[in-house]
Amino acid sequence: MLDRLAIELNEILDSSVAGAFLSSFGRRIFFPKGIVAQSAEAGAKAKRYNATVGLAKSKGQPMHLSDIYGYFKEGLLQPSDIFSYAPGGGDKELRSVWKEEMIKKNPTLEGKLTSLPMVTGGLTHTISTVANLFFDEGDEIVCPDLFWDNYELIFVHAKNGSLKFFTFYDENKHFNVEGMRKALLDCKGNTARIILNFPNNPTGYTPSKTEMMKIRDAIVEVAESGKKVMVLSDDAYFGLFFEEETEKESLFSFLADAHENIFAIKGDAATKEEMVWGFRVGFITYASKGFTEKHIDALNSKTLGAIRCSVSNCDRPGQSLILKAIKEGKSYQEDKDKTFKEMEARYRILKKELEKYQDSKLLKPYPFNSGYFMAFDTMGRSAEELRVYLLEKYSVGAINIMDRTLRLAYCSVEQENISELVALVYSAAEEIWT
Ligand SMILES: Cc1ncc(COP(=O)(O)O)c(C=O)c1O
Repeated sequence: MLDRLAIELNEILDSSVAGAFLSSFGRRIFFPKGIVAQSAEAGAKAKRYNATVGLAKSKGQPMHLSDIYGYFKEGLLQPSDIFSYAPGGGDKELRSVWKEEMIKKNPTLEGKLTSLPMVTGGLTHTISTVANLFFDEGDEIVCPDLFWDNYELIFVHAKNGSLKFFTFYDENKHFNVEGMRKALLDCKGNTARIILNFPNNPTGYTPSKTEMMKIRDAIVEVAESGKKVMVLSDDAYFGLFFEEETEKESLFSFLADAHENIFAIKGDAATKEEMVWGFRVGFITYASKGFTEKHIDALNSKTLGAIRCSVSNCDRPGQSLILKAIKEGKSYQEDKDKTFKEMEARYRILKKELEKYQDSKLLKPYPFNSGYFMAFDTMGRSAEELRVYLLEKYSVGAINIMDRTLRLAYCSVEQENISELVALVYSAAEEIWT
């Protein structure tokens, strides 16, 4: 039985592109006017006693273990910034600041209507929340054939749907826009879903400015054919762009108001952008040309419901620390610039080293220009065999992907060791395959 609030939200969303994508869970879910909503109301009005939330307080602050508080530099963060629950949907100020930063990094978004980014428990949680809300058993989602393996766990194993692949690179070693377009047109019924991740894991590839426009145009063309298209941009490694011609904005910016039939979702996170891997703070942002504030509110209510019934709410200390660093961190920009420069330096060294082996018939690096990774095509030979050999013989750890790709996370290798790393990978390939 559908709750009355869910029915109201469904009616609103059915007058927009998002309605076409709601899963059965997505149709059932809503944000109840329960404890969280009542506590928020009491937070504003219950000036005498606020006996709503299960959170032990004294003198206006959460009670806490002084050992834990002591690990934070005393006085810089209030106990409430560390120990309290974060508000449903995340710290309001962090959400606003994240949106401001998003627009700064993606100037094309200026003036476009998007939702206020909602906090999730990391980008994985963003993707699984999207899957819960907009992907049903038996549904398919288009995805290039070089992808982050967790997509399979989420969309195939958890949701019992399928990934519909197209080849990542075309014959000119550019992003395969035509393959993507065909896969979208080939989706069953009048909807198509796609997940795209740039800078890509595992390839380290981001489309050039012209390629990104071709991607946008192809998606718009599919939308114009009458198909409703949901596009989830996974921006996990956003910002790590090392070449001039690479597009520096998220695909989301170009789709946010591209067409009424396009439902654009941005998944991003502090995880890598702010280098806080263990904090578990991600975001989810919605846009579509046809959206009004009412549609966005309804989507946010659905998302709040999905979060409330899974993790309830997300990491408080992480949100407070990230907000403080972005707002007033003394070394914030300097540290970020330093890290970027270091990653770029590793990238350039790696590119140069790989040139030495360009005649190898055993391993072919896929084109890469961004992010944390590069990957080799093992040319029909077993990437797992190479991975195990590298580990056993040379104590080098790399990742095998689907037994045909070997991924190197050069982000975790010092500049002075990159040359040796590359030499070992090629030596290992020679030793086992020639
Ligand atoms: C492409 C991609 N998307 C999403 C994630 C998940 O990020 P988080 O750690 O914020 O869940 C990762 C992390 O490895 C990733 O590589």
